[in-house]
Amino acid sequence: MKTVLITGASSGIGRELAHTFAKNNYNLILTARRKERLEDIKKDIEKTLSVSVQVIQLDLAASGSAELLYKKTNGIRVDILINNAGVGVYGDFKEIDMEKEEKMLILNIITLTKLTRLFAGDMIKAGQGNIVNIASTAAFQAVPLMASYSASKAYVLNFSEAIAHELKKYNITVTTICPGATRTEFADVASMNKSIFKNAPTAKELAEFTYKEMAKGKTIAIHSLKNRIMTFGTRFSPRKLNTAIAARIMK
Ligand SMILES: NC(=O)c1ccc[n+]([C@@H]2O[C@H](COP(=O)([O-])OP(=O)(O)OC[C@H]3O[C@@H](n4cnc5c(N)ncnc54)[C@H](OP(=O)(O)O)[C@@H]3O)[C@@H](O)[C@H]2O)c1
Repeated sequence: MKTVLITGASSGIGRELAHTFAKNNYNLILTARRKERLEDIKKDIEKTLSVSVQVIQLDLAASGSAELLYKKTNGIRVDILINNAGVGVYGDFKEIDMEKEEKMLILNIITLTKLTRLFAGDMIKAGQGNIVNIASTAAFQAVPLMASYSASKAYVLNFSEAIAHELKKYNITVTTICPGATRTEFADVASMNKSIFKNAPTAKELAEFTYKEMAKGKTIAIHSLKNRIMTFGTRFSPRKLNTAIAARIMK
């Protein structure tokens, strides 16, 4: 039976990814800071399905946390790594809390990169593997009021696309998932206005989409036709105009 490691599994897309992969017969390693939540998910899954669930409580915005997570999974072969944990910081850049911003950048960029590097090494030795990195439709353009967040997701997209090319010869796929607004705890954590999340898809829809796109070996998967049209459109309109439109949406 294969094993999937999911970061940020205590809520939103990560929690639904845990249920989706369990239903598809994968053993799970789930990590996040809120241990009780992870233990509840473990209980729920193990009650109904014959898969094993291991819980690892960690703050992935702490320096050295990627190495620690890798160490804690030592001995278990991770076939699929899903770098899902991520947060947004919303607000006027000149007023943004520098500490929050730094933690976001460590989580969204540094930890994701290090985990990818560490687990890719083992996947190369095993001759196969799948890596899934959760970016965002915000990766395709500058987003005022979420300047660093959108830039962090542009990093995830570019980094993942490059290593997808590099790792292909080792039989490893790297899939970047780009959700648009999705109903999770994301907006609360980022202190955002929730109007753009009103009719947004659910975390379950995103998790099922992620599973399917990963299984197909897709390199970039943008969720929903509307988001695919919007992100494609940004290629043809002036960057300044894209930024101005994003600023209006984010207000
Ligand atoms: N929802 C959206 O509209 C949207 C759109 C585009 C992209 N995304 C991306 O989707 C991914 C999942 O987010 P979500 O929407 O499902 O949000 P969410 O419900 O807030 O879930 C975020 C997950 O990340 C974990 N996390 C946050 N900080 C962490 C830390 N320091 N260390 C370890 N784990 C941490 C949280 O667990 P703990 O708090 O328990 O640690 C939680 O499990 C993120 O990468 C996000 O950027 C979301």
